[in-house]
Amino acid sequence: MALKTLGQFIIEKQADFPYAKGELSRLLRDIGIAAKVINREVNKAGLADILGEIGDQNIQGEVQKKLDVYADEQFIEALRRGGECCYIASEEHEFGIDLTRGYHVNNGKYMVCIDPLDGSSNIDLNVSVGSIFSIYRRKIADVEITADEILQLGSDQVAAGYIIYGSSTMLVYTTGKGVNGFTLDPSIGEFCLSHPNMKIAENGTTYSINEGNYLKFPQYVKDYIKYCQMEDAETSRPYTSRYIGSMVADLHRTLITGGIFLYPETSSYPQGKLRLLYECNPMAFIIEQAGGKAVSGQERILTIQPKYLHQRSSIIIGSRLMVEKVQEFMLPNYDTADVLGKKLTFSG
Ligand code: AHG
Ligand code: MN
Ligand code: MN
Repeated sequence: MALKTLGQFIIEKQADFPYAKGELSRLLRDIGIAAKVINREVNKAGLADILGEIGDQNIQGEVQKKLDVYADEQFIEALRRGGECCYIASEEHEFGIDLTRGYHVNNGKYMVCIDPLDGSSNIDLNVSVGSIFSIYRRKIADVEITADEILQLGSDQVAAGYIIYGSSTMLVYTTGKGVNGFTLDPSIGEFCLSHPNMKIAENGTTYSINEGNYLKFPQYVKDYIKYCQMEDAETSRPYTSRYIGSMVADLHRTLITGGIFLYPETSSYPQGKLRLLYECNPMAFIIEQAGGKAVSGQERILTIQPKYLHQRSSIIIGSRLMVEKVQEFMLPNYDTADVLGKKLTFSG
Protein backbone atom coordinates (compact mmCIF):
# COMPACT_ATOMS: atom_id res chain seq x y z
CA MET A 1 0.00 0.00 0.00
CA ALA A 2 1.31 3.41 -0.92
CA LEU A 3 2.21 5.75 1.92
CA LYS A 4 0.03 8.78 2.42
CA THR A 5 1.89 11.76 3.79
CA LEU A 6 0.45 14.37 6.14
CA GLY A 7 0.65 16.93 3.33
CA GLN A 8 -1.33 14.73 0.93
CA PHE A 9 -3.89 13.91 3.59
CA ILE A 10 -4.43 17.56 4.49
CA ILE A 11 -4.99 18.50 0.84
CA GLU A 12 -7.48 15.65 0.40
CA LYS A 13 -9.38 16.72 3.50
CA GLN A 14 -9.61 20.34 2.42
CA ALA A 15 -12.80 19.46 0.57
CA ASP A 16 -14.41 18.86 4.00
CA PHE A 17 -14.28 22.60 4.60
CA PRO A 18 -16.02 24.28 1.69
CA TYR A 19 -15.68 27.73 3.32
CA ALA A 20 -11.92 27.39 3.68
CA LYS A 21 -9.56 28.51 0.99
CA GLY A 22 -6.67 26.37 2.08
CA GLU A 23 -5.52 28.56 4.97
CA LEU A 24 -6.19 25.94 7.62
CA SER A 25 -4.38 23.34 5.51
CA ARG A 26 -1.38 25.63 5.26
CA LEU A 27 -1.48 26.31 8.98
CA LEU A 28 -1.45 22.57 9.75
CA ARG A 29 1.40 22.15 7.30
CA ASP A 30 3.38 24.88 9.11
CA ILE A 31 2.83 23.12 12.44
CA GLY A 32 4.00 19.84 10.87
CA ILE A 33 7.21 21.55 9.73
CA ALA A 34 7.89 23.00 13.19
CA ALA A 35 7.27 19.55 14.67
CA LYS A 36 9.93 17.99 12.45
CA VAL A 37 12.49 20.59 13.43
CA ILE A 38 11.72 20.17 17.14
CA ASN A 39 11.87 16.39 16.73
CA ARG A 40 15.39 16.70 15.37
CA GLU A 41 16.50 18.61 18.46
CA VAL A 42 14.66 16.34 20.89
CA ASN A 43 16.37 13.34 19.34
CA LYS A 44 19.80 14.76 19.94
CA ALA A 45 18.99 16.24 23.35
CA GLY A 46 21.48 13.93 25.02
CA LEU A 47 24.29 15.12 22.75
CA ALA A 48 24.05 18.83 22.40
CA ASP A 49 24.42 21.46 25.06
CA ILE A 50 20.79 22.23 24.39
CA LEU A 51 20.19 19.94 27.35
CA GLY A 52 19.74 21.47 30.76
CA GLU A 53 18.12 24.40 32.41
CA ILE A 54 18.73 27.97 31.42
CA GLY A 55 17.61 29.40 34.72
CA ASP A 56 14.78 31.56 33.43
CA GLN A 57 11.37 31.03 34.90
CA ASN A 58 8.27 30.94 32.76
CA ILE A 59 5.01 32.59 33.74
CA GLN A 60 4.00 29.58 35.84
CA GLY A 61 7.14 30.05 37.96
CA GLU A 62 8.67 26.84 36.59
CA VAL A 63 12.28 26.66 35.48
CA GLN A 64 12.47 26.58 31.71
CA LYS A 65 14.61 24.08 29.90
CA LYS A 66 16.50 25.07 26.80
CA LEU A 67 14.40 22.76 24.71
CA ASP A 68 11.19 24.46 25.88
CA VAL A 69 12.55 27.74 24.62
CA TYR A 70 13.73 26.19 21.38
CA ALA A 71 10.37 24.51 20.70
CA ASP A 72 8.54 27.73 21.50
CA GLU A 73 10.70 29.69 19.06
CA GLN A 74 10.22 27.11 16.33
CA PHE A 75 6.43 27.19 16.56
CA ILE A 76 6.31 30.97 16.68
CA GLU A 77 8.62 31.38 13.70
CA ALA A 78 6.81 28.74 11.64
CA LEU A 79 3.45 30.39 12.34
CA ARG A 80 4.80 33.88 11.73
CA ARG A 81 6.39 32.90 8.42
CA GLY A 82 3.40 30.79 7.33
CA GLY A 83 1.13 33.84 7.40
CA GLU A 84 -2.15 32.13 8.38
CA CYS A 85 -1.98 32.84 12.11
CA CYS A 86 -2.54 36.30 13.58
CA TYR A 87 -2.16 35.56 17.31
CA ILE A 88 -0.35 32.99 19.45
CA ALA A 89 -0.85 32.09 23.09
CA SER A 90 2.01 30.01 24.42
CA GLU A 91 2.58 28.40 27.78
CA GLU A 92 6.00 30.02 27.75
CA HIS A 93 4.78 33.64 27.37
CA GLU A 94 2.94 35.71 29.92
CA PHE A 95 1.03 37.57 27.21
CA GLY A 96 -0.34 36.56 23.84
CA ILE A 97 1.81 37.30 20.79
CA ASP A 98 0.10 39.59 18.31
CA LEU A 99 1.44 38.75 14.84
CA THR A 100 -0.42 41.62 13.19
CA ARG A 101 2.40 43.85 14.46
CA GLY A 102 6.17 43.71 14.24
CA TYR A 103 8.61 42.93 11.49
CA HIS A 104 6.45 40.43 9.65
CA VAL A 105 2.82 41.49 9.63
CA ASN A 106 0.22 38.72 9.44
CA ASN A 107 -3.47 39.16 9.05
CA GLY A 108 -4.30 35.47 9.06
CA LYS A 109 -7.72 34.24 10.14
CA TYR A 110 -6.50 31.88 12.83
CA MET A 111 -5.34 32.07 16.42
CA VAL A 112 -3.18 29.31 17.89
CA CYS A 113 -2.56 28.14 21.48
CA ILE A 114 0.55 26.04 22.08
CA ASP A 115 2.26 24.03 24.76
CA PRO A 116 5.54 23.91 22.83
CA LEU A 117 7.09 21.20 24.99
CA ASP A 118 4.96 19.14 27.31
CA GLY A 119 6.50 16.87 29.92
CA SER A 120 9.67 18.92 29.96
CA SER A 121 10.83 17.40 33.26
CA ASN A 122 11.30 14.17 31.27
CA ILE A 123 13.74 15.56 28.70
CA ASP A 124 16.88 14.69 30.61
CA LEU A 125 15.58 11.18 31.23
CA ASN A 126 15.00 10.03 27.66
CA VAL A 127 11.30 9.66 28.40
CA SER A 128 8.63 10.71 25.89
CA VAL A 129 7.72 14.38 25.64
CA GLY A 130 5.30 16.16 23.35
CA SER A 131 3.89 19.37 21.89
CA ILE A 132 0.22 20.40 21.91
CA PHE A 133 -1.62 22.84 19.63
CA SER A 134 -5.11 24.25 19.45
CA ILE A 135 -6.51 26.39 16.62
CA TYR A 136 -9.34 28.92 16.70
CA ARG A 137 -10.78 31.10 13.99
CA ARG A 138 -10.86 34.86 14.60
CA LYS A 139 -14.40 35.91 15.35
CA ILE A 140 -14.06 39.47 14.05
CA ALA A 141 -11.69 40.20 11.19
CA ASP A 142 -10.00 43.44 10.13
CA VAL A 143 -10.03 45.21 13.50
CA GLU A 144 -7.22 45.39 16.02
CA ILE A 145 -6.84 42.18 17.99
CA THR A 146 -7.68 42.32 21.66
CA ALA A 147 -6.06 39.96 24.14
CA ASP A 148 -9.32 38.31 25.16
CA GLU A 149 -10.25 37.21 21.63
CA ILE A 150 -8.32 34.05 22.31
CA LEU A 151 -10.60 33.23 25.26
CA GLN A 152 -13.00 31.14 23.21
CA LEU A 153 -14.75 27.97 24.29
CA GLY A 154 -12.93 24.73 23.61
CA SER A 155 -15.95 23.71 21.53
CA ASP A 156 -15.03 26.54 19.13
CA GLN A 157 -11.68 24.94 18.25
CA VAL A 158 -11.38 24.31 14.51
CA ALA A 159 -8.47 21.93 14.95
CA ALA A 160 -6.25 20.54 17.68
CA GLY A 161 -3.44 18.06 17.87
CA TYR A 162 -0.33 16.85 19.56
CA ILE A 163 3.07 15.56 18.60
CA ILE A 164 4.62 12.80 20.69
CA TYR A 165 8.39 12.44 20.54
CA GLY A 166 8.53 8.83 21.66
CA SER A 167 9.99 5.54 20.48
CA SER A 168 8.74 6.92 17.20
CA THR A 169 7.45 10.43 16.57
CA MET A 170 3.76 10.83 15.84
CA LEU A 171 1.47 13.71 15.02
CA VAL A 172 -2.18 13.17 15.94
CA TYR A 173 -4.82 15.74 15.07
CA THR A 174 -8.49 16.45 14.54
CA THR A 175 -10.42 19.08 12.64
CA GLY A 176 -13.69 17.91 14.18
CA LYS A 177 -14.16 15.06 11.74
CA GLY A 178 -12.46 12.22 13.57
CA VAL A 179 -8.87 11.75 14.67
CA ASN A 180 -5.95 10.69 12.51
CA GLY A 181 -2.42 9.76 13.49
CA PHE A 182 0.76 10.09 11.42
CA THR A 183 4.11 8.51 12.18
CA LEU A 184 7.31 10.26 11.15
CA ASP A 185 9.35 8.16 8.76
CA PRO A 186 12.84 9.53 9.41
CA SER A 187 14.19 8.01 6.19
CA ILE A 188 12.01 10.30 4.06
CA GLY A 189 11.38 13.03 6.66
CA GLU A 190 7.61 12.81 6.29
CA PHE A 191 4.73 12.14 8.64
CA CYS A 192 2.83 9.20 7.10
CA LEU A 193 -0.74 8.17 7.87
CA SER A 194 -0.38 5.18 10.21
CA HIS A 195 -3.45 5.42 12.48
CA PRO A 196 -6.49 6.44 10.42
CA ASN A 197 -9.75 7.21 12.22
CA MET A 198 -8.50 6.60 15.78
CA LYS A 199 -11.10 5.53 18.34
CA ILE A 200 -10.78 5.20 22.10
CA ALA A 201 -12.37 2.14 23.71
CA GLU A 202 -15.56 2.84 25.59
CA ASN A 203 -14.08 1.17 28.68
CA GLY A 204 -10.58 0.32 29.87
CA THR A 205 -8.48 -1.21 32.63
CA THR A 206 -5.71 1.39 33.08
CA TYR A 207 -5.84 4.47 35.31
CA SER A 208 -3.29 7.26 35.17
CA ILE A 209 -2.84 9.75 38.01
CA ASN A 210 0.02 11.06 40.14
CA GLU A 211 -0.74 8.96 43.20
CA GLY A 212 1.97 10.72 45.17
CA ASN A 213 -0.62 13.46 45.63
CA TYR A 214 -3.06 11.01 47.25
CA LEU A 215 -3.41 12.88 50.53
CA LYS A 216 -4.07 16.13 48.63
CA PHE A 217 -6.89 14.69 46.53
CA PRO A 218 -10.58 15.37 47.11
CA GLN A 219 -12.51 12.46 48.62
CA TYR A 220 -14.14 11.36 45.35
CA VAL A 221 -10.70 10.82 43.78
CA LYS A 222 -9.45 8.83 46.78
CA ASP A 223 -12.58 6.70 46.54
CA TYR A 224 -12.14 6.15 42.82
CA ILE A 225 -8.51 5.10 43.30
CA LYS A 226 -9.59 2.54 45.89
CA TYR A 227 -12.27 1.35 43.46
CA CYS A 228 -9.58 0.88 40.77
CA GLN A 229 -7.48 -1.17 43.19
CA MET A 230 -10.24 -3.46 44.42
CA GLU A 231 -10.48 -7.01 43.15
CA ASP A 232 -13.52 -7.68 40.97
CA ALA A 233 -13.38 -10.26 38.20
CA GLU A 234 -16.48 -8.94 36.46
CA THR A 235 -14.94 -5.51 35.81
CA SER A 236 -11.34 -6.82 35.44
CA ARG A 237 -10.17 -5.04 38.58
CA PRO A 238 -7.70 -4.31 40.00
CA TYR A 239 -6.85 -1.99 37.14
CA THR A 240 -3.30 -1.29 36.02
CA SER A 241 -1.71 2.00 37.08
CA ARG A 242 0.47 3.87 34.55
CA TYR A 243 1.82 7.41 34.91
CA ILE A 244 4.59 8.87 32.78
CA GLY A 245 4.27 12.51 33.86
CA SER A 246 3.98 13.84 30.30
CA MET A 247 0.33 14.53 29.58
CA VAL A 248 0.82 13.90 25.87
CA ALA A 249 2.40 10.49 26.47
CA ASP A 250 -0.12 9.49 29.13
CA LEU A 251 -3.02 10.48 26.89
CA HIS A 252 -1.54 8.91 23.79
CA ARG A 253 -1.42 5.59 25.63
CA THR A 254 -4.94 6.19 26.93
CA LEU A 255 -6.21 6.89 23.42
CA ILE A 256 -4.63 3.74 22.01
CA THR A 257 -5.31 1.23 24.77
CA GLY A 258 -8.34 2.78 26.50
CA GLY A 259 -8.22 3.95 30.11
CA ILE A 260 -8.52 7.10 32.13
CA PHE A 261 -6.21 10.03 32.95
CA LEU A 262 -6.90 12.32 35.90
CA TYR A 263 -5.28 15.53 37.07
CA PRO A 264 -7.86 16.68 39.59
CA GLU A 265 -7.85 19.68 41.88
CA THR A 266 -5.48 19.16 44.83
CA SER A 267 -4.76 21.14 47.97
CA SER A 268 -1.62 22.47 46.20
CA TYR A 269 -3.47 23.24 42.95
CA PRO A 270 -7.07 24.05 43.96
CA GLN A 271 -8.01 24.77 40.32
CA GLY A 272 -6.11 21.76 38.97
CA LYS A 273 -2.62 21.99 37.49
CA LEU A 274 -3.04 21.62 33.75
CA ARG A 275 -3.73 24.63 31.58
CA LEU A 276 -7.15 24.94 29.97
CA LEU A 277 -6.18 26.66 26.73
CA TYR A 278 -3.17 24.69 25.63
CA GLU A 279 -3.45 21.37 27.45
CA CYS A 280 -7.02 20.52 28.51
CA ASN A 281 -9.01 21.94 25.57
CA PRO A 282 -6.97 20.42 22.72
CA MET A 283 -6.76 17.04 24.44
CA ALA A 284 -10.49 17.11 25.23
CA PHE A 285 -11.30 17.88 21.58
CA ILE A 286 -9.17 14.96 20.39
CA ILE A 287 -10.49 12.47 22.94
CA GLU A 288 -14.12 13.46 22.31
CA GLN A 289 -13.57 13.15 18.57
CA ALA A 290 -12.22 9.65 19.20
CA GLY A 291 -15.42 8.78 21.11
CA GLY A 292 -14.18 9.43 24.66
CA LYS A 293 -15.12 11.94 27.31
CA ALA A 294 -13.37 14.88 29.05
CA VAL A 295 -14.72 16.73 32.07
CA SER A 296 -13.44 19.00 34.83
CA GLY A 297 -15.91 17.55 37.33
CA GLN A 298 -19.52 17.41 36.26
CA GLU A 299 -18.75 19.96 33.51
CA ARG A 300 -17.52 19.17 30.02
CA ILE A 301 -14.04 20.68 29.49
CA LEU A 302 -15.03 22.10 26.10
CA THR A 303 -17.80 24.29 27.54
CA ILE A 304 -15.73 26.00 30.24
CA GLN A 305 -15.55 29.73 29.52
CA PRO A 306 -11.88 30.73 29.87
CA LYS A 307 -11.36 33.98 31.76
CA TYR A 308 -7.62 34.35 31.38
CA LEU A 309 -4.80 32.98 29.28
CA HIS A 310 -3.03 30.69 31.72
CA GLN A 311 -6.16 29.42 33.44
CA ARG A 312 -5.87 25.97 34.96
CA SER A 313 -8.49 23.27 35.15
CA SER A 314 -8.93 19.90 36.75
CA ILE A 315 -9.33 17.21 34.12
CA ILE A 316 -10.75 13.69 34.00
CA ILE A 317 -10.42 12.30 30.50
CA GLY A 318 -10.46 9.04 28.59
CA SER A 319 -12.76 6.08 28.02
CA ARG A 320 -16.36 7.24 28.40
CA LEU A 321 -17.54 4.67 30.92
CA MET A 322 -14.52 5.16 33.16
CA VAL A 323 -15.00 8.94 33.24
CA GLU A 324 -18.67 8.45 34.04
CA LYS A 325 -17.71 6.13 36.90
CA VAL A 326 -15.58 8.89 38.46
CA GLN A 327 -18.52 11.27 38.08
CA GLU A 328 -20.69 8.82 40.05
CA PHE A 329 -18.23 9.03 42.95
CA MET A 330 -18.69 12.83 42.94
CA LEU A 331 -22.42 12.67 43.49
CA PRO A 332 -23.31 13.73 47.03
CA ASN A 333 -25.80 10.90 47.51
CA TYR A 334 -23.56 8.21 46.02
CA ASP A 335 -23.31 5.30 48.41
CA THR A 336 -19.53 5.00 48.47
CA ALA A 337 -19.61 2.75 51.51
CA ASP A 338 -21.79 0.34 49.62
CA VAL A 339 -19.41 0.24 46.64
CA LEU A 340 -16.13 0.24 48.56
CA GLY A 341 -16.67 -0.17 52.27
CA LYS A 342 -17.69 -3.78 52.62
CA LYS A 343 -14.95 -5.08 50.39
CA LEU A 344 -12.11 -3.01 51.81
CA THR A 345 -10.12 -4.89 54.36
CA PHE A 346 -6.75 -3.40 55.15
CA SER A 347 -4.17 -5.43 56.96
CA GLY A 348 -1.38 -3.69 58.85
P1 AHG B 1 4.79 21.03 31.02
O1 AHG B 1 6.05 20.23 30.86
O2 AHG B 1 4.28 21.56 29.70
O3 AHG B 1 4.88 22.09 32.08
O4 AHG B 1 3.60 20.05 31.45
C1 AHG B 1 3.81 19.15 32.53
C2 AHG B 1 2.45 18.65 32.93
C3 AHG B 1 1.94 17.47 32.13
O5 AHG B 1 2.65 17.11 31.02
C4 AHG B 1 1.92 16.34 33.11
O6 AHG B 1 0.77 15.57 32.91
C5 AHG B 1 1.92 16.99 34.45
O7 AHG B 1 2.52 18.25 34.27
C6 AHG B 1 2.66 16.22 35.47
O8 AHG B 1 2.52 16.85 36.68
P2 AHG B 1 2.98 16.17 38.07
O9 AHG B 1 4.47 16.09 38.01
O10 AHG B 1 2.46 17.12 39.10
O11 AHG B 1 2.31 14.82 38.13
MN1 MN C 1 2.34 20.73 29.40
MN1 MN D 1 5.22 22.87 28.37
